[in-house]
Amino acid sequence: MLSKIQEAVKYIQSRHSKAPIAGIVLGSGLGSFVSEMKVEAEILYTDIPHFPVSTVEGHSGKLIFGTLSGREVVAMAGRFHYYEGYRPTDVVFPIRVMKFLGVQSIFISNAAGATNTSYKVGDLMMISDHVSFFTPNPLVGKNINELGTRFPDMSEPYNSLLREKAKKIAEAAGIHIHEGVYFSVTGPTFETHAEYRMLNILGADAVGMSTVQETIAAVHMGLTVFGMSVITDIGIRDDKNTITHAEVLEAAKHAEPKLTHIFKELVGQL
Ligand code: HPA
Repeated sequence: MLSKIQEAVKYIQSRHSKAPIAGIVLGSGLGSFVSEMKVEAEILYTDIPHFPVSTVEGHSGKLIFGTLSGREVVAMAGRFHYYEGYRPTDVVFPIRVMKFLGVQSIFISNAAGATNTSYKVGDLMMISDHVSFFTPNPLVGKNINELGTRFPDMSEPYNSLLREKAKKIAEAAGIHIHEGVYFSVTGPTFETHAEYRMLNILGADAVGMSTVQETIAAVHMGLTVFGMSVITDIGIRDDKNTITHAEVLEAAKHAEPKLTHIFKELVGQL
């Protein structure tokens, strides 16, 4: 694993030599964020040794290097989901590569379904904590000591300082944000009524099919994580509950400018 990471890093550095300080992972329907960056280089996943290749509609599949708010960053346009059939170690491979490129913080976005009954479609939820029990942990297997410790502490997966800063940024811009708990599920099915109700009882504010494995790998390596969900559907509700991927993408697109503003300002304060 370590040598695969190193080979990917070596290739990327042969194409772009500047070290990014932050990595940005863009969720479903949230790809146009990149227009805010001053792009310096784009590298297709298909060109990078050992990189998985994205298959989902709405994910284009490349690393984009450039500046955001004057800081060197790398953005993943397209991420890898467990439901696509990747092993959890594949899902987190790019996060590990970003760490070895020099990244200290990871900014993660996702589309999520609300299980908190006060949330509305289009709302933003800053992730304060997560529950990972419904998806396989990417650290299962022999520990790679060069990456981190066997039993990582998970008392604060989402950095509280960044969350405080984000709250101030949102407030100053008149953007309302929630702060809540994200439950990860494997997907690709959306949840049944009974499952949304169960997640709500268990303490979930939102549910989604990404982010948590990436966060675990990042925390394992000592990276600072900031996570934000765009609420694209209300899972827990009384009426007939149908959800389509198209609706999710549409809702994400609407909320994207708010999310972009917060990420951009936050990166500027690193
Ligand atoms: N459930 C799981 N994943 C999701 C949802 C949802 O309701 N919405 C967007 N991603």
